[in-house]
Amino acid sequence: MKNEAKKRGGFTSSLGFILAATGSAVGLGNLWKFPYIAGEGGGAIFVLIYLFFVLVLGVPIMLGEMAIGRKTKLNPIGAYHKLNKKFTFIGVIGVVCAFIILSYYSVIGGWVLKYITTYVTNTHVTDASAYFKNFIQSPVEPVIWHIVFMALTCIIVIGGVAKGIERASKIMLPLLFIFIIIIAIRSVTLPGAMEGVKYFVIPNFSHIDSISEISKVLLAAMGQVFFSLSLGMGAIITYGSYLNKEVNLQKSAFIIPTLDTLVAVLAGFAILPAVFAFGFKPTAGPGLLFETLPKVFESMPFGVIFGVLFFVLVFFAAITSSVSLLEVVTSYCIDNLKMKRATASIIIASIMTIIGIFAALSFGPLADVKFFGNTIFDLMSFVSDKLLMPLGGFFMCIFVGYIWGIDNASEEISNDGSIRFRWKKLFSIIMKYIAPAIILVIFITSFLPTK
Ligand code: PHE
Repeated sequence: MKNEAKKRGGFTSSLGFILAATGSAVGLGNLWKFPYIAGEGGGAIFVLIYLFFVLVLGVPIMLGEMAIGRKTKLNPIGAYHKLNKKFTFIGVIGVVCAFIILSYYSVIGGWVLKYITTYVTNTHVTDASAYFKNFIQSPVEPVIWHIVFMALTCIIVIGGVAKGIERASKIMLPLLFIFIIIIAIRSVTLPGAMEGVKYFVIPNFSHIDSISEISKVLLAAMGQVFFSLSLGMGAIITYGSYLNKEVNLQKSAFIIPTLDTLVAVLAGFAILPAVFAFGFKPTAGPGLLFETLPKVFESMPFGVIFGVLFFVLVFFAAITSSVSLLEVVTSYCIDNLKMKRATASIIIASIMTIIGIFAALSFGPLADVKFFGNTIFDLMSFVSDKLLMPLGGFFMCIFVGYIWGIDNASEEISNDGSIRFRWKKLFSIIMKYIAPAIILVIFITSFLPTK
């Protein structure tokens, strides 16, 4: 056990950890999901609720997960088991969740790869929407790209996370910021874009007129906070387990959500104004990024170059997230099932690939297979970010608040008393009462018939 703990000591510096954890957080959730969910959720209202949840749920839950990970130096299942056997199930929720997310995440990662090749080969696209639909409805192409994306994720995880990911994130993050700012400026200055800017920044309550509408938006915003910050399913516990004692967890738990939120908001500015400028609907769903941005690039000088670079950056953002997802399950197999890293990641990635194929096909040949009105893809996304992640977060708060205890958590958070934990009282109230109450109320109002 001692040796293993030593071997796990992956991140050497605070910066390395912050970059890797930000790499996990910043991903398709920010660039692809946030703009379309904000679009569906009524724009500015959604954004406001989202920001509120980042503060009251995101930051404290991230801090709690980091503490659990660093304290135990184990994967989520092992971590909960070590602290209190009866609560191992919270870790199990996380591992199951990682399976579901990566299976469909990799499908979208595949779409990104496809778009990189489209731009690299300078394929002339006259109708971006038709091009996109043709592609996702094909029974073969999306599956192949999904397999390629998963294989790349697997290769990085086999190689070990720390160095590759740290280095990739160091170059990728600043570049991503620069590019997305340039694209946002172009998008905002397109003729007709102002409507989109307004939609994104000025709350309009007119279409949120029933309790069921409100609870839908609340659930979507809450789910998105968990998804975007990689919370409630053990990714941050896993990364925390690779941490050393010097890292200031409190600072990290602010910096990572701040960077993540910044990227999401910038992505909103890059995409939503363009949606209006080109006459799309903000409620268009998962295709938003892939249909509107090509149009923005077309309207820019050197658009093709921007297209290549942008989708390459999206790819980097996505792969640093997918790696953290695969790492959750891999670390469990290594710690608890004593498997070799390579064997574990190949087996798990293969299972995820197979599940993901169904998600990939649910835009084409399997589009009619529906569960409660949802396609396979929608169902997987619903179960993970609206159900399992908030549920995992709920139990995590209860666990830290009442079982492991605020004092034990604070000891870890304050590096055994060497860094002052100024907001311990607030942290305690949030963990014990506020966060569980918010999650529960949103669950109840969303899942119980209200009218
Ligand atoms: N946070 C990642 C994103 O925004 C997705 C993710 C979820 C990664 C859960 C790890 C764990 O794309």
